[in-house]
Amino acid sequence: MTNHTNIVFEGVNKAYDDNVILHDINFEIEKGKFYTLLGPSGCGKTTILRLIAGFTDVTEGSIKINDQIVNDISPNKRKVNTIFQDYALFPHMNVFDNIAFGLSLKKLPKSEIEAKVKNALKMVQLSGYENREIREMSGGQQQRVAIARAIVNEPEVLLLDEPLSALDLKLRTDMQYELRELQRRLGITFIFVTHDQEEALAMSDWIFVMDKGKIVQSGTPVDIYDEPINRFVADFIGESNIIAGTMVEDYKVKMVGKEFECEDAGITPGERIEVVIRPEDLELTTVEKGKLVVNVDSQLFRGVHYEIIGYDKDGNEWMVHSTKKAVIGQDIGLYFTPHDIHVMRLGETEEEFDARLESYEA
Ligand SMILES: Nc1ncnc2c1ncn2[C@@H]1O[C@H](COP(=O)(O)OP(=O)(O)O)[C@@H](O)[C@H]1O
Ligand SMILES: [Mg+2]
Repeated sequence: MTNHTNIVFEGVNKAYDDNVILHDINFEIEKGKFYTLLGPSGCGKTTILRLIAGFTDVTEGSIKINDQIVNDISPNKRKVNTIFQDYALFPHMNVFDNIAFGLSLKKLPKSEIEAKVKNALKMVQLSGYENREIREMSGGQQQRVAIARAIVNEPEVLLLDEPLSALDLKLRTDMQYELRELQRRLGITFIFVTHDQEEALAMSDWIFVMDKGKIVQSGTPVDIYDEPINRFVADFIGESNIIAGTMVEDYKVKMVGKEFECEDAGITPGERIEVVIRPEDLELTTVEKGKLVVNVDSQLFRGVHYEIIGYDKDGNEWMVHSTKKAVIGQDIGLYFTPHDIHVMRLGETEEEFDARLESYEA
């Protein structure tokens, strides 16, 4: 552990009565980075935030903030602030009073409160909005007031629980940029919760992918996208083709009755595996030039590319993203390189997965 470490979970379990909802959660959060907890509804994301904030207790394990075990430290003594999904602004107060609320409770001098609120408003680009009523503001502006109210307390860590999920797509994308910018400018640790994989990929320095109360994979967006650990992650993060296969030997897999070169090693020959190929890594070509042949079943124009669905001779479904158009009912060739093939072992743990990748990657 270094002095850059902010938050550490060690063997954290959480149960309500007999219902275990977090299983052996371990992670280290470094200062000043943008982290995302990503996973489907009900996987335990909010519970992790509540544990960090101190709104609920661990059943087992320990939580450290800045090297201090905080299991028994009350929420107001943790240098952590939370932005909830519904912002929880006070509708009967104006912008200034909403942001100043926490500082007034601490009985800071009036001039200091004013200076801090002004500064917070500047950070979220709402200078001059002090006297506006909350209900006069748009969704995006309310979002920024909620952020200002949180950062005015100068937290070391900001917890954001799906703060963009109520916004429409355009505003949501704008706010993604703004939040990311704000995090860089403030240099404080953000722990952001979302069930939206595109949002997580676009915003994060580091993602924890969760499933059923466990962290199943953690890494940079590129790592997780390029090397999903299992079918759940591959399916959840982006579109993927997942095909059953067998490891022939190091750097060679077999699927759809053919052998292909790949870049994966360290797997027992003969082991049943799954192969992932991303739709954008497949190149549409002639039957002769294709490494595999599929029969085109359907096609949609997606603005930048066509999304083509076809089936190989074994009945596997293949999705291709291509700027070229296909003809429904015809056979087409699919071309890909060894680099486009990603091999997943069934039931591999994250430790095993990381060790294997390290063993043959430069
Ligand atoms: N106070 C509680 N009492 C009992 N069960 C709870 C409580 N809070 C959350 N849960 C359960 O824990 C699981 C995880 O919830 P949550 O952390 O809110 O998931 P997420 O934020 O990923 O959607 C869910 O099955 C939920 O029903
Ligand atoms: Mg939640």
